[in-house]
Amino acid sequence: MSNPRIAFIGAGNMAASLIGGLIGQGIAAESIRASDPGAEQRARLAAEHGIEVFADNAQALVGAEVVVLAVKPQVMQAVCRELAAHLAPDALVVSIAAGISCASLQAWLGATTDAPRAIVRCMPNTPALLRQGVSGLYANAAVSAIQKQQAGQLLGAVGLALWLDEESLIDAVTAVSGSGPAYFFLLMEAMTAAGERLGLPRETAAQLASHTALGAARMACESEVEPSELRRRVTSPNGTTEAAIKTFQAGGFEQLVQQAVDAAARRSAELAEQLGQ
Ligand SMILES: NC(=O)c1ccc[n+]([C@@H]2O[C@H](COP(=O)([O-])OP(=O)(O)OC[C@H]3O[C@@H](n4cnc5c(N)ncnc54)[C@H](OP(=O)(O)O)[C@@H]3O)[C@@H](O)[C@H]2O)c1
Repeated sequence: MSNPRIAFIGAGNMAASLIGGLIGQGIAAESIRASDPGAEQRARLAAEHGIEVFADNAQALVGAEVVVLAVKPQVMQAVCRELAAHLAPDALVVSIAAGISCASLQAWLGATTDAPRAIVRCMPNTPALLRQGVSGLYANAAVSAIQKQQAGQLLGAVGLALWLDEESLIDAVTAVSGSGPAYFFLLMEAMTAAGERLGLPRETAAQLASHTALGAARMACESEVEPSELRRRVTSPNGTTEAAIKTFQAGGFEQLVQQAVDAAARRSAELAEQLGQ
């Protein structure tokens, strides 16, 4: 496993999770630095992981081969403009910010067409905080094979990392997995309410719903066969599952999911447009 020197700019929830994941994978704490304006946040990271922390972003960058931009999208432009003069020309920039394009990052980091920056844009999701995330990653043409491996290793520390051939697919990733945990929470809420109406105590219904989601997700992730086949195997003709699935389908479940995911993808593209200005 490669052990590049990594700087995290912004050391909030996602950065803390990535740092924990990297250290859990055997990356040396000495190779990781982080900067954040919050003194408490810095103290927590230093105490938990033994990494060097700074209030000044430029100091965190010293010697960094990989720079992870982990600030909120709204402050990204100011942060990039501040970092531009301090970044090593051959450093890999990894952005995990939602809605910030490679073109915006290039412009804000002062890159030119003659000297483009190596940028990997990622879309992780919230379960990354438990190292159970899934991320879509896009690398621009300036990213080398080794840098691609380093970015894959970074996001792989908090879950599954999947490469995309086109940056525009980040909107689809946002719509499927970025926003996706909330869709499953909604289903769990609805199942809990339905169970409660059938007489189950609320807590019992909630546990039945969430543990069923967990078990089903593990079966889907760990099985060789597609979810449609897993579903077929648990749906006996004329049985209880079939009664429920038929009801879902009669209500247009698949079309509704398509419309919901389309709406999220459109909103992702709109937000990216606004944030890039
Ligand atoms: N959390 C998720 O599930 C998730 C999923 C996908 C993508 N993302 C992306 O990940 C990024 C970070 O999200 P997060 O949830 O980790 O947010 P977060 O917990 O708010 O972390 C951002 C950190 O950046 C710090 N910060 C603010 N201004 C800064 C500056 N000028 N220089 C350096 N650090 C600065 C913040 O400090 P203050 O709090 O003091 O402002 C905060 O500690 C976002 O761009 C988000 O779009 C997050």
